[in-house]
Amino acid sequence: MTPDSHNRGNFTSKIGLVLATAGSAIGLGNIWRFPVLTGQNGGAAFLILYIVCVLLLGIPLMVGEFMVGRHAQSNTAHAYSKLTNHKIFKNIGRFGVFTGWFILCYYIVVSSWALDYFIDAILGRFSKLSQTGDPQVYADYFQQFVSNPYIPTLYAIIFILMSHFVIIRGVKKGIEKFAKLMMPMLFIIMLVLVIFSFFTDGAKEGLSFLFKPDFSKIDFSTILIAMGQAFYSLSIAMGCLCTFASYFNKETDLVNTAFKVGAIDTLVAIMSGIIIFPAVFSAHFGVDSGASLVFIALPNVFQQAFANMPILGYAVSVLFYFLLVLATLTSVISLHEVPTAFLAEHFKISRKRSTTIVTITVCIIGSLCSLSMGSLSGLTICDKNLFDLFDYISGQVFLPIGGILIAIFVGWSMDKTIISNQLTNYGTIPGKGSTPIVFLLKYFIPVVTTLIFLSGLGII
Ligand code: TRP
Repeated sequence: MTPDSHNRGNFTSKIGLVLATAGSAIGLGNIWRFPVLTGQNGGAAFLILYIVCVLLLGIPLMVGEFMVGRHAQSNTAHAYSKLTNHKIFKNIGRFGVFTGWFILCYYIVVSSWALDYFIDAILGRFSKLSQTGDPQVYADYFQQFVSNPYIPTLYAIIFILMSHFVIIRGVKKGIEKFAKLMMPMLFIIMLVLVIFSFFTDGAKEGLSFLFKPDFSKIDFSTILIAMGQAFYSLSIAMGCLCTFASYFNKETDLVNTAFKVGAIDTLVAIMSGIIIFPAVFSAHFGVDSGASLVFIALPNVFQQAFANMPILGYAVSVLFYFLLVLATLTSVISLHEVPTAFLAEHFKISRKRSTTIVTITVCIIGSLCSLSMGSLSGLTICDKNLFDLFDYISGQVFLPIGGILIAIFVGWSMDKTIISNQLTNYGTIPGKGSTPIVFLLKYFIPVVTTLIFLSGLGII
């Protein structure tokens, strides 16, 4: 993505565009965060809430951001200020840029775990662990790793540097090609793992946890978590979708694209749940064991599922963690790009310089977040260590606020003709799907999101 708004290249194919957008949306949010939250919040009932949030809140907001981005043809922070003079609305873009940066600071910590597990998979460490026959060794191994003061921090820095060097060159050229290759690969390997997970010991329990709802577990804070997760996973309110949409061409059907991206993203999250929960039950871990399901339950299941064919177990685990690293890297690159483009354009500094500023600040705060899993774990605010605090604030505070502002802006302040032109591509597609979307953005989302936000935090 070049910061130059006059020279915006477009995606060359429809499918490339959907996959590139989905590729940036799919990341740790789907594979790591979704199962963790589903585990902590009662399984199937949470899944249902999540899907409702994606459909009624996430997809319309995505369309809203697409409209702003494609119309304004510039980076997020400027897109909003181009469209309005209102003080608050002008800053929606900047707030999104800040949220993206904030998330990146702790996102790279989880990225470092993914990188470590990829290396472990290559070195065959999991099969050595499995020789003890006790699944608990995986939990101990994870705990030991994340609380190590140096290695995760070092990996986090390596991760952000990889993204740094991609970004410095401008990512747009590579991203479409990369996504076209990677997404189908990720999908296929996940499908293979889904099939295997049906045959594990914990399949029955795991699947019924994920698909048989128990609504007694739901309260307002759960709804807020589901909503925040829907925004998180779809990359809403972080300036990314808006930037992507500025590269869409005139013929792109925004509503249709948002539905496809939402569907792919949700499917990947559900597949991740299908892979992980049977594994969790097979190994007799608690479903609510937190930040670690992907890293504790999965290595175990790879070994179990392929106990008779260790070489296949080896290959599948290497492949899975490789794809996890790739999916994470694409998200990190997109998250890195947003503040970078903003700084370069806003302060008229070189791209190299703006990338460096983002990289350094993220390294510093990211290292603190990483250390908060170990030596800095005593440092807590509201009972949360720094890592959990960053996760909580981004998901339960910043994203809902961003979502509310975007809906109010698009629904109430944006010019009606721009909206209808964007939705119907200047009248070339009949705007069938658009009326409900406008209604949702105008009335439903501002009211419902605000209510969920305030009651989820216990304010009302
Ligand atoms: N949606 C990504 C995920 O599920 C994370 C993410 C949040 C993101 N905001 C973003 C990715 C902005 C790219 C751009 O992991």
